[in-house]
Amino acid sequence: MPTIPTAADALTILRRRTSEKWGVYPDDVLPMFVAEMDFPLAPAIKKALHEAIDLGDTGYVNPRDTGAREAFRDYAGASWGWEPDPERMGITTDVSVVIVESLRRLIQPGDGVVITPPIYPPFYDLVPEGGGVVVEVPLADDGNAYALDLEGIDRALAGGAKGVLLCSPHNPVGLVHERATLEELARIVARHDGFVISDEIHAPLTHHGVEFTPYLAVSDQARSHGIAAESGSKAFNLAGLKTALFVAESDRMTDLIRSLPEEVTFRAGQFGLIATREGFARSRDWLDGTIAAVQGNADHLQAELDEHLPAVRLRRPSASYLAWLDMSALGWGDDPAATAEQRARVALSSGPRFGPQGAGFARMNLACSPDTITEAVRRLAAAAG
Ligand SMILES: Cc1ncc(COP(=O)(O)O)c(C=O)c1O
Repeated sequence: MPTIPTAADALTILRRRTSEKWGVYPDDVLPMFVAEMDFPLAPAIKKALHEAIDLGDTGYVNPRDTGAREAFRDYAGASWGWEPDPERMGITTDVSVVIVESLRRLIQPGDGVVITPPIYPPFYDLVPEGGGVVVEVPLADDGNAYALDLEGIDRALAGGAKGVLLCSPHNPVGLVHERATLEELARIVARHDGFVISDEIHAPLTHHGVEFTPYLAVSDQARSHGIAAESGSKAFNLAGLKTALFVAESDRMTDLIRSLPEEVTFRAGQFGLIATREGFARSRDWLDGTIAAVQGNADHLQAELDEHLPAVRLRRPSASYLAWLDMSALGWGDDPAATAEQRARVALSSGPRFGPQGAGFARMNLACSPDTITEAVRRLAAAAG
């Protein structure tokens, strides 16, 4: 069956939303910043949430409910050939909490933790929140493709950093790490007796034709020192429902999850648990359509830039709906998103917040209608003169 691209809601409907994307700016600004989607919810998720509301099923999450965990296992098995054991998973609020709670148990206060900028800006805050100190090992960039700097990570671990906070796939550049790269990373980390926390929140949005490799599927070494953060929150646009999974495959990391106070589980959202189950179990066609729409939008953005704003270069993502734009040739300074907001009334994410490598860049959210992209490029081109 051909994949039917998911269609975004109309702007008049979207402007009635009250979440960050639609609530922060006045109506004359086109919001293309925070990672929320303009697509309607998957029908199975909508139905299950409506049923929960009708039932008043709004209490605490049931820690024994394995529905979401089993749905994730089945999804990961079908999509990536990896079937993590639901008994070794934990439930909590969101991916950020998975990262912080894991760090608290993996490091001593003041230990170094490697991050790989340009990177999802909250990583700069989550590491200190977990007690660590950020050690930056920027992605290698040959101008065409980004990659992990494995030698740099090796040096950082040799220099005393204790582990790596991996973004896989990588936000903002949309890099899907190759299996061989992850195998080598696992060998390096094992040699230094370190750990990897693998944030795989964008993994279900890996583009068609690209292969995603879960870190814990890579090798025994990776399973022994790795813990993964998994979630339906980006794939199914559930960020406000607050649910994510800790996933382990070794006794060491399973013990870490079991050592968490039960409050860590109860801070998850009941609606999030229901929606995560329905997403991974019954919304795979919707997800395929969403990925097709996003890939179509990336093509559309490239075509619009080629025609109207060739000075801006799209670093084409292989996963998710975030477009990393090199806008340095516009002469809008280190933070072109600031100029875009002021002069074009387009809200992009500010490049320098992703690390020093983000100077001259901005991130555009492509989980929208093609018309929104057309309008954004038109406005940016008019502002660029
Ligand atoms: C790489 C990455 N990790 C974590 C998050 C935040 O996830 P959560 O809302 O589950 O904490 C995001 C949100 O966009 C993200 O891009």
